[in-house]
Amino acid sequence: MTELIEKLYTSGDLTDSEFKILVESDKDSELLAEYADKVRRKYYGRKVFLRGLIEISSYCRNDCFYCGIRRSNRNAERYRLSREEILLCCENGYNLGFRTFVMQGGEDLYFTDDFMCSLISEVKRKYSDCAVTLSLGERSYESYRKMKEAGADRYLLRHETASPELYGKLHPSEMSIANRKECLFNLHELGYQVGAGFMVGVPFQTTEDIIRDLRFLQELRPHMIGIGPFVPHHNTPFADKKSGTLGLTLRLLGILRLMFPKVLLPATTALGTISPDGRERGLKTGCNVLMPNLSPVNVRKKYDLYDNKICTGEESAECVVCLQRRIESAGFEISCERGDIVL
Ligand code: SAM
Ligand code: FES
Repeated sequence: MTELIEKLYTSGDLTDSEFKILVESDKDSELLAEYADKVRRKYYGRKVFLRGLIEISSYCRNDCFYCGIRRSNRNAERYRLSREEILLCCENGYNLGFRTFVMQGGEDLYFTDDFMCSLISEVKRKYSDCAVTLSLGERSYESYRKMKEAGADRYLLRHETASPELYGKLHPSEMSIANRKECLFNLHELGYQVGAGFMVGVPFQTTEDIIRDLRFLQELRPHMIGIGPFVPHHNTPFADKKSGTLGLTLRLLGILRLMFPKVLLPATTALGTISPDGRERGLKTGCNVLMPNLSPVNVRKKYDLYDNKICTGEESAECVVCLQRRIESAGFEISCERGDIVL
């Protein structure tokens, strides 16, 4: 295993059969973490970039089988934030030191292009030193173009799985990986900093599927890669499926850091949900981004993607203090920069 890890460290790539061995083994995980940490430190030092996550809507027209806010979940509590509420989240976040706001939500047609463009321009006018990231799912080329012109800087759209067969087992037939990929390439072409990614340990996923994800990421060359464990939600068709594991998620984070030395790699909330020190372990395995929740406390439990999601009870300020303590005791430092990818 040592040779494979060293080969990945020096060349940034492996053959499919070598990836299969590395992904399926749990040997030498400390060595993999050490190398991943070394590469991360080379480009980003000890900095951890914070992104303030504002969960703007729990309405969704999609029906992804794994997701707690899918449209068929009649028990999901629906809410959407008003323009004023979103601007207030940004103001709180700005005062707490955030210089990136991520507006994420289900695919909610209430958030028209006009609504979003006016909101984005207002946020950029008030906080010109901040980056605006959107994560609103699949929209048309025109919609992405308008929002880019209004000032949006980045877009997060996990591809979920690059395998059409697995994609079909995780989504209803009206959704397709072809459309999702097209959206990602459109976003790239329009000049967004793009984030793609996938869930680890999602039902039916094989090592071959994961290797396809790695190959797709090589083709797309995103600026950010979001991966986290699948966690079941009790009101979805995958209620009785197992969560993805900490071990495999960390292994893939380490592999991704060695494949994409400069990429922005978040230690996700889902990772912190399956293990109390999951996010710290992620930081020690090459991650350099955290996305604390800036949503109003009264809606946090309603953005209920999976069971036992952490950080749904605290105020934003408490979240930041807690994370600061965790980051520092893990040997890292919070950065108040916008946190763009290094060139
Ligand atoms: N609607 C937007 C989209 O489709 O990209 C953004 C919101 S969506 C809820 C954000 C991400 O949550 C998805 O890309 C998916 O990977 C993740 N997610 C959904 N259900 C999950 C689950 N049960 N476990 C872990 N992650 C989940
Ligand atoms: Fe739309 Fe999950 S099904 S956000």
